[in-house]
Amino acid sequence: MSVTFSINGVKVEAATGDNVLDTARTNGFEIPSLCHHEAVSPYGACRLCLVEINKGGRKKITTSCNYEVLDGIDVKTDSPEIHKHRAMVLELILAEAPKSEQVQALAAQYGVKQSRFANAKNDEAQKDRDNCILCGLCTRVCSEIVEVNALTFNGRGDKRGVGSPYLEQPQTCIACGACAWVCPTDCIGFSEEDGVRKVHRWGRELPMAKDENGRPVAPVFQLHHFKKRVGLPDDFFKKAPGSR
Ligand code: SF4
Ligand code: SF4
Ligand code: FES
Repeated sequence: MSVTFSINGVKVEAATGDNVLDTARTNGFEIPSLCHHEAVSPYGACRLCLVEINKGGRKKITTSCNYEVLDGIDVKTDSPEIHKHRAMVLELILAEAPKSEQVQALAAQYGVKQSRFANAKNDEAQKDRDNCILCGLCTRVCSEIVEVNALTFNGRGDKRGVGSPYLEQPQTCIACGACAWVCPTDCIGFSEEDGVRKVHRWGRELPMAKDENGRPVAPVFQLHHFKKRVGLPDDFFKKAPGSR
């Protein structure tokens, strides 16, 4: 079933169940976001995707990533009021991720050069190395796309963070790097050196299988995981010694 509504005065169509953010982007309207990816479920954490929605004569400012499209609504993706809200949100995010280039660039776009707020993380060392904004993209990608559930949120308040459920090296992590790739503040870190794949933030280090020329292919554990997942025979990766 399709739904018809307007964005900035332009009539658009979407499928029932779609969200306003993805529909706006598909139709060429820009809305900033830091916790959204169209491949995973919306989470509504960063509050940057605020838009104005007029429904039956009532206006409200709300997040667009988790707002389902409805027939006849009017959406405004920008206004002085929305701009003001986003600038405030960016000031708060900048306090948590002062070294993130993406956050700095977005903040500058909204006229925010520095934050008046203190970093809420409770530990001095953590403030220096940690640009995590608790957007939850890493946890959602790991559970919904990679399907290994290696990550979760831990702790509360100023001790809240992401990592393995027991704050150790996540035992189900296959070191695929998807979480590092999707992290908006680039604070996870991923590398391959001397035949070892590392996902830095989680402390995960996995030896890699090599091809017949000695070139690293993928972590042995990752190949095992894929073999099991799609039911391949044990000797499927014959050409990658060490993968069995
Ligand atoms: S690298 Fe590990 S934690 Fe990150 S998405 Fe892949 S399996 Fe999950
Ligand atoms: S580590 Fe990155 S992706 Fe994960 S919650 Fe923090 S900012 Fe988001
Ligand atoms: S993208 Fe909607 S709250 Fe983050």
